[in-house]
Amino acid sequence: MIGPSTYYRPEHRAALDAHTGELVDRREAVLAPSYRLFYAQPLEFVRGAGTKLYTRDGDDYLDVYNNVPSVGHAHPRVTAAIAEQSARVNTHTRYLDASLIDYAETLLAALPAGLDTLSLTCTGSEANDLALRVARHATGNRGVLVTRHAYHGVTAAVAEVSPSLGGIDALGAHVQLIAPPVGDGSAMVQDARRAIDALVASGDGVAALLIDTAFASDGFVAPSPGVKTALAELARLVRAAGGLVIADEVQPGFGRLGPALWGSALHGLEPELLTMGKPMGNGYPVAGLAARRSVMEPFGREVRYFNTFAGTPVAVAAARATWEVLHDEQLPAHAEILGASLLTGLDELATRHPHAAGARGRGLYAALDIVDPETGAPDETTTIRLVNALRARRVLISASGPHNTALKIRPPLPFSVGDRDRFLTELDAALTELAR
Ligand SMILES: Cc1ncc(COP(=O)(O)O)c(C=O)c1O
Repeated sequence: MIGPSTYYRPEHRAALDAHTGELVDRREAVLAPSYRLFYAQPLEFVRGAGTKLYTRDGDDYLDVYNNVPSVGHAHPRVTAAIAEQSARVNTHTRYLDASLIDYAETLLAALPAGLDTLSLTCTGSEANDLALRVARHATGNRGVLVTRHAYHGVTAAVAEVSPSLGGIDALGAHVQLIAPPVGDGSAMVQDARRAIDALVASGDGVAALLIDTAFASDGFVAPSPGVKTALAELARLVRAAGGLVIADEVQPGFGRLGPALWGSALHGLEPELLTMGKPMGNGYPVAGLAARRSVMEPFGREVRYFNTFAGTPVAVAAARATWEVLHDEQLPAHAEILGASLLTGLDELATRHPHAAGARGRGLYAALDIVDPETGAPDETTTIRLVNALRARRVLISASGPHNTALKIRPPLPFSVGDRDRFLTELDAALTELAR
């Protein structure tokens, strides 16, 4: 079965309680077989608030995983904005809508320099798909560079540039893989030179570099001066070959990494195209592509873009309310401060637990590598046990990275000092259990 090993598998069925077992069976009977469930013991939540999710029995689970409800589960200002607007009118982008214009003005003013036009989509996949279309149109080239374990979405075009999907979604012949900027980034730059040469030789040429600025599926790379220098060289090489830089901010965007708001800003990248999604509407499907007018204008002259459900008044109400809460509650600054103390706590755990190797992070995005204490090699079996042990302790977490052994720590941004301490206490206990 394709997918992270922390997912539910048929062999777990026998251990499920009657209610969960019945839901799993009914779901499998009607949903397409590509769906997956988290955990050996899947969970059903009936309510969410802030950083907690609640089961039918009223048990609270600490959410250390979900980055979409970025300003907190069921934030009352966001839910009220959606309800009010849907009770008034919901049309589409072929009518004038002052709230969409206001939102676009506000958002563009907070984006990296030069990004002065906005296209609304419903999902991050659509935003990346559109960015690729625009890049191909603007450059006349087809080739794309992506990092080795990247994920950029589900449409046919973006599945072809998402090596982490594996399976039958083979990479397109026009796609070249490069290392993420770990270490001094020289492996990435070397890969990029080779990749560009190959794309030029094949006749595809270079349309774009598409990078997730958190390198989430590659196991997370924290911004640093070394990473910044390596990425600057990468962007220079791509542009010299005629390509554009697409920053995928679907995961890091909207303040997860701190007040800089965007991974691009922290890396000093000034992309021609920037995609966003997940946290943008706190769970309402709203996503988008910000781009330079010079790149979008030729595309816009020849291509009509209309996306039925994208940028509707209700979508904009969700996005505006999310943006306002983000700023009114100063969540990016909170993410930076709390994230730094969380990282200190993770580092401290790593000194005491042989399964926990180094932690890295920025804002409220962190990763902790789980290794075999004897060999130091990534330890997937232990990671699966740890993720399920934390689930038993009512802490929601998952893993990513090339070996699925990087604990993915990515909670809603109102994660409090108490939440941090609860998480570290439970992680400490779960790691201690593993050692027995
Ligand atoms: C970096 C990145 N890009 C794009 C996507 C696709 O976004 P969506 O699921 O909204 O289509 C994801 C989703 O996980 C993502 O993590």
